[in-house]
Amino acid sequence: MSTSWQERYRPLVDRFGRVHTNLRIAVTDRCNIRCFYCMPAENVVFRPRHEILSFEEIARFVRVVAALGVNKLRLTGGEPLVRQGLPELVRMLSAIPGIHEVALTTNGVLLREQAAALKAAGLARLNISLDALDADTFRRITRRDVYQRVIEGIYAARQAGFQRIRINAVAIRGITEEQVVPFGRFAREEGFEVRFIEYMPLDAENHWERRRVLPGEEIRRLLEAEFGPLVPAPRPDPSQPAVDYVFADGRGRIGFINPVSEPFCHECNRLRLTAEGQVRNCLFSLQEWDARAVLRGGGTDEQLAALVFECIQGKKPGHGIDDPDFLRPHRAMYQIGG
Ligand code: 5AD
Ligand code: SF4
Repeated sequence: MSTSWQERYRPLVDRFGRVHTNLRIAVTDRCNIRCFYCMPAENVVFRPRHEILSFEEIARFVRVVAALGVNKLRLTGGEPLVRQGLPELVRMLSAIPGIHEVALTTNGVLLREQAAALKAAGLARLNISLDALDADTFRRITRRDVYQRVIEGIYAARQAGFQRIRINAVAIRGITEEQVVPFGRFAREEGFEVRFIEYMPLDAENHWERRRVLPGEEIRRLLEAEFGPLVPAPRPDPSQPAVDYVFADGRGRIGFINPVSEPFCHECNRLRLTAEGQVRNCLFSLQEWDARAVLRGGGTDEQLAALVFECIQGKKPGHGIDDPDFLRPHRAMYQIGG
């Protein structure tokens, strides 16, 4: 007796029992800034347009994985807002049966112009990357002079009605220490949740070194010394990578994403689709599964589902950054999707 592909491949459970319900979609590899922990400074070679999946192709992929149990999407890049017409994609994806939430991670540079349209399109949540609260440090990290635009973008997003906006700050030793207390104050006074993310070996220029990682635990101590105790916040979703805290006086939420010092791979429920249609089971995966070939080669939905299932079966237990034979992925962050 034959079973349908939906029954055969759902849920997307891997060899370690992790059920995959969360898809991160890179919509472009392009970016309007050049964060040193992600991109090369100069001469970036972007993919030609025809290699990038169309909105229709992305939507078809999402319809298939939604039938396999994926219910949350996050759009990333590159910088997703440089992709023309992104609100239309948000609208298409939000309408797919089974998709409960479409979120976005952006550098905020174009948010002032686009926040209202994204909200109207049904975007549920926004993460905005901001690694420093002063213009000079921001420029040193991003190699671009757009600090003020990002700040305006953050407030425009709030104005457009987005709630619980998160600020992502990559934490780098030698840079972030002086930003910690200002970020704590920002979280407390402005009501944005600030999340510190440990620097991972995904920079394009291969400069990452372990000693440049500023562990979340150290940041937590700096914050507590200034503002008093941080109390763990309830964890509604155990597979979320961040551990969130609230200051004991109730003012200010702070989160920590500690992939290097405290790997959370054992609870990972994420898969990824790159801008040119490759499926990845991990940021650090060395292998990819070619969904674009299926999408453009006349493949069936069943073949797409089988490809995703095979990708999930190939998932390793963890990223292995600490293994002596650790190999970095061939791609940098902007080519994978954050
Ligand atoms: N290490 C940690 N975080 C990174 N990001 C980009 N590159 C790195 C890296 N090497 C972050 C971005 C953004 C999110 C998508 O990933 O700052 O907040
Ligand atoms: Fe652009 Fe994000 Fe990479 Fe920074 S981290 S260069 S904003 S894609």
